[in-house]
Amino acid sequence: MPYRTVEDTPAAPPLAGSYHLPTRVRFGRGTRATLSAELAGRPCLVLTSAGGSARLAEDDLLGPALRELDALRLDAVDANPTVTALDALVAEARDRGWRDGTIVAIGGGSVLDAAKALAAGLALDTGIGRVARSPALLDAVTVAPIVALPTTAGSGSEVTPVAVLWHRTPGGGPRTTDDGPAKVSLSHRSLFPVLAIVDPALTDTLRAHQTLATGLDAFNQAAESIWNRHANALTLPLATRAMVLAWHALPALQREPGDRAARDAMAAASLLAGTALGQTRTVACHALSYPLTDRYGVTHGIACAFTMAAVAQHMLASDDGRLAALATELLGAAAPAEALPGALGSFLERLGVAAHVRGALGSRAALLDLVGEVELPERGGNGLRDVDQAARRGILEASWEGLTPGS
Ligand SMILES: [Fe+2]
Repeated sequence: MPYRTVEDTPAAPPLAGSYHLPTRVRFGRGTRATLSAELAGRPCLVLTSAGGSARLAEDDLLGPALRELDALRLDAVDANPTVTALDALVAEARDRGWRDGTIVAIGGGSVLDAAKALAAGLALDTGIGRVARSPALLDAVTVAPIVALPTTAGSGSEVTPVAVLWHRTPGGGPRTTDDGPAKVSLSHRSLFPVLAIVDPALTDTLRAHQTLATGLDAFNQAAESIWNRHANALTLPLATRAMVLAWHALPALQREPGDRAARDAMAAASLLAGTALGQTRTVACHALSYPLTDRYGVTHGIACAFTMAAVAQHMLASDDGRLAALATELLGAAAPAEALPGALGSFLERLGVAAHVRGALGSRAALLDLVGEVELPERGGNGLRDVDQAARRGILEASWEGLTPGS
């Protein structure tokens, strides 16, 4: 493709912008073996999911490393952790004598997010909910360094300063309008992990649904950082590469879960997507996903991917060339931007995304009931194009029907 200058392409993606990633990253198979050397005997707190310590003890490289550590172990993080559970975790760490050191988070996005909440809670003598509402409280205190080892290829939380926490455990069906917001984001620059050790081997044993749901989170997060007002010359190539990697690797892993090259590709996709998203933040798919998870327990990545094709269609009207470039990368040089939503719809249909959501909700009416619950002023405001109430409804309707080429 000929080089295009700013003068001859009035509709060109933005290049200006800022980028701040203070996390040191080690990526590759076997890098988890470096954990004990990285910590060099310093006291640490190892945070894992429920039962996680026992599973990690059996790992040929992490097991010996963990046995060497001078560590307090907390393995009580559930998926989608609540603010109440995290306040209890802070209290437990204090009760068990934790004073100072490095927080080592080994797990999926929920564990990594919980480590950020734990670090914030330990740094301040107040509840985590209050810190989330007033993150500037963290300006004046020292926050424990976090070392993150993701065991899923999805959230990219190891390279972001954000933790998504819940006010109540997701799932359980319809709620009343008095229940208040379902989730809260805790974000502060001090919560970037100091070190991310991304070893794809830690994802080798993920079950099929975990692989798909977490992988779709990475795929969607990359897209959300592309149709994003904060995208720039540094984030766009990272996010585009993440989508291309996941585009090939996710179907490959559905066919063959033992495909190590595809596991490596998804780990890279997740890292690249998180690196871009940590700068730009999320847009409409994430905002539309939270009620699906809150009310019906739809797994985060599936809930985000559900509206992806329809959101792409919506954003296309404001494309400045970035979606056209993405279509070329995913579909080939001859593909126009207009082919992108249908192609995404077909891709997600083959992975069973809409079928999963339809099964969880049971009816179209249940889905459309969620329109009023979507918090969009903040998230919608990041998008290439705003997503108003009518657009939300249209996106949900199109997602329910399934958006395919030509529809
Ligand atoms: Fe996400």
